[in-house]
Amino acid sequence: MDILKKIQDHREQEEELKWEGTFSEYLDLLKERPYLAQSAHSRVYNMIKSAGVAEEHDHKRYKFFDEDIYGLDEAMEKLVEEYFHPAARRLDVRKRILLLMGPVSGGKSTLVNLLKRGMEKYTHTDEGAVFAIKGCPMHEDPLHLVPNHLRKDFQEEYGIRIEGSLSPLNTMRVETEYGGRIEDVLVERIFFSEDKRTGIGTFSPSDPKSQDIADLTGSIDFSTIAQYGSESDPRAYRFDGELNKANRGIMEFQEMLKCDEKFLWHLLSLTQEGNFKAGRFALISADELIIAHTNEAEYRSFIANKKNEALHSRMIVMPVPYNLKVSQEERIYEKMIRESDIRDVHIAPHTLRVAAMFTILTRLKESKKASIDVLKKMRLYDGEILEGFSDVDVEELKKEHADEGMSGIDPRYVINRISSTIIKKELTSINALDVLRSLKDGLGSHASISNEDKERYLDFISLARKEYDEIAKKEVQKAFVYSYEESAVTLMDNYLDNVEAYCNKAKLRDPLTGEELNPDERLMRSIEEQIGVSENAKKAFREEILIRISAYARKGKKFDYQSHERLREAIQKKLFADLKDVVKITTSTKTPDEQQLKKINEVVATLIDEHGYNSSSANELLKYVGSLLNR
Ligand SMILES: Nc1ncnc2c1ncn2[C@@H]1O[C@H](COP(=O)(O)OP(=O)(O)OP(=O)(O)O)[C@@H](O)[C@H]1O
Ligand SMILES: [Mg+2]
Repeated sequence: MDILKKIQDHREQEEELKWEGTFSEYLDLLKERPYLAQSAHSRVYNMIKSAGVAEEHDHKRYKFFDEDIYGLDEAMEKLVEEYFHPAARRLDVRKRILLLMGPVSGGKSTLVNLLKRGMEKYTHTDEGAVFAIKGCPMHEDPLHLVPNHLRKDFQEEYGIRIEGSLSPLNTMRVETEYGGRIEDVLVERIFFSEDKRTGIGTFSPSDPKSQDIADLTGSIDFSTIAQYGSESDPRAYRFDGELNKANRGIMEFQEMLKCDEKFLWHLLSLTQEGNFKAGRFALISADELIIAHTNEAEYRSFIANKKNEALHSRMIVMPVPYNLKVSQEERIYEKMIRESDIRDVHIAPHTLRVAAMFTILTRLKESKKASIDVLKKMRLYDGEILEGFSDVDVEELKKEHADEGMSGIDPRYVINRISSTIIKKELTSINALDVLRSLKDGLGSHASISNEDKERYLDFISLARKEYDEIAKKEVQKAFVYSYEESAVTLMDNYLDNVEAYCNKAKLRDPLTGEELNPDERLMRSIEEQIGVSENAKKAFREEILIRISAYARKGKKFDYQSHERLREAIQKKLFADLKDVVKITTSTKTPDEQQLKKINEVVATLIDEHGYNSSSANELLKYVGSLLNR
């Protein structure tokens, strides 16, 4: 379908959604669909829930955040359960300002944007529809038209409780335009749009000293003041501040704590009574979610100032820490690269993963448990299963430091280093070593890294480098084995047949000659020695494996070489040990003979076809591994 046709279709769909009627017709709608009258907070909560909720080990994962926010499931769960849910039920927290607190580039703005864009879409659905008094610059809730003394009756009839009073402007309009007949007041369906300044607003402070409250609450309209004769005529006032425009929806308050404290005092009544003052008018009821964000340092200095006490108690602070999972960090980089102008550069496999390892290491705090070093912690947090540790251990680890994830290297730094490497060297392909080098070189000029941290970070660069060395060796060795998986399976089957015969004191039969053979002790030992199983321990080890196999069989599961972690490691090491010399010689020779050349070409082809390299990154990898093996 061409784009013009799509535009036309879109316009037609928008037309179809439109609705306009009198207040009494709107009441008919409410009879059938009382949820249309829900508050802004409730609508946001329902939007989040409507994307689905997954229950995972005692935790809820709100899928709404899945697409854009990675690795923060628990922070999002807390945000929903401790703010959005109670706020939707009209508990007092909804009047408070939601303050997201987290380190730089930790995803705060991304989160707010997700909510804003989400609401724009949600108001186009049936469940998320919003209705407002027509022609009102603040899209006022039509139910405010119901006079106070009748609201109790209204609640009995409709089951809806009305909050907030009719704004000065609409009070006047009912008189002048509708002759006091509220049932005739026109109501329309509105659709949130930040561009059109409907239901979504963003307030960004300018110079704190000269900040004008009009930006928030509107100002006198000097062009019409002559017409209406008085400053206190609401028709001579422009209700076009961000608080006005965001009514019924969301207002983002950027850099809130950078504002002058006197300016923030204007927000006191808003956070207490749910209304704000504009010009010389009676208070205006606000039905909107106010989200601000800040970093920890700014927040600390804010609460240290006694003058801010009143406001402080009217904010709900929710932490948005850094992600602490390597695999999720990798996804963050992938996303940022997709959105950038370096997306066409070839990034060798494992590059982003290794960068992510470094980043996560800088964010982790040392565990008090002696048995857990940072690398182990990094793996456990990423959901790896390590022998001797359970989910309970991981939960305990997370509880050790409340402020974990509030410091360390931010994702933007990593992406900036990657792009600057690419641009400076005019590279068309980069690998993990390029990136680690660049991350290291940049540490000196990173504004917020102390010398002490720098030392630690340099250690983490080496740790990540060592991890990469292991990954690189494995990758090349695997590519050398002709069909790695098949070889591993064959070796394992062979081993298990022998172990079974050994434990049952039985013989094996040679498949070719039919001859009876004793279990092949040399073969079994050559595998077991790879993982340090001693002569004395071999019997127990073999029996344990047989027990494991029968346990699998009882559950109807197939035991394969992936089922037993240590056995898998032993098989892999054995395969690699047999190959070591070939790999070493082939990858490091300067003048390969014909056969070596053939092998190199084969390996490069495997790396390209099966592991995502291109020819330059595959050749670089081979060279590097050659140098590693010859150390
Ligand atoms: N947990 C995360 N999931 C997905 N993307 C993330 C995450 N953390 C950071 N990012 C990405 O990092 C970049 C910076 O994030 P964002 O601008 O939202 O951070 P911020 O907390 O608002 O930072 P600042 O304090 O500098 O305003 C964005 O491209 C964002 O997509
Ligand atoms: Mg931001």
